[in-house]
Amino acid sequence: MRIAIASDHGGFELKRQLLTRLQDMGFEWSDFGCATEDSVDYPDYAEVVAMRVASGEFDRGILLCGTGLGMCIVANKVPGIRAVTVHDTFSAQVTREHNDSNILTMGGRVIDADAAETIARIWLTTSFMGGRHERRLEKISRVEGRVQELAEKAGSRS
Ligand code: RB5
Repeated sequence: MRIAIASDHGGFELKRQLLTRLQDMGFEWSDFGCATEDSVDYPDYAEVVAMRVASGEFDRGILLCGTGLGMCIVANKVPGIRAVTVHDTFSAQVTREHNDSNILTMGGRVIDADAAETIARIWLTTSFMGGRHERRLEKISRVEGRVQELAEKAGSRS
């Protein structure tokens, strides 16, 4: 599994600790920044990871900011991305089983590295259940299609 990871300054320390723990668990990852605790803008990092997951270059993404929320908002702007902010183990499991989420976001100011490690391990190892949930994912794709149509119509009017 190819995992793309990024953080802003609010998630930097959590990312630093999580990268080591993921490596110890045998996962391979690529880190797309940031590289220090200097203040940066989370949309820049969320976009890079979301585009790489949406294109198929990476299978999953993990984004860390202060709360996980800003990263999640940005990542979900990219068609094909199902990003979720998760800070508990039940949601980590069920969002994979039901939503086939492909980006996990967490907050460095919300949870510690032990909790993030457990959540990431569950999220990375739980499979999508398919079945009735497949139909719901198709409906999400159709929403994306209708948004795209709206954008095209708006573009043709300008
Ligand atoms: C940065 O201060 C903070 O706003 C950011 O890390 C994140 O929490 C945004 O949602």
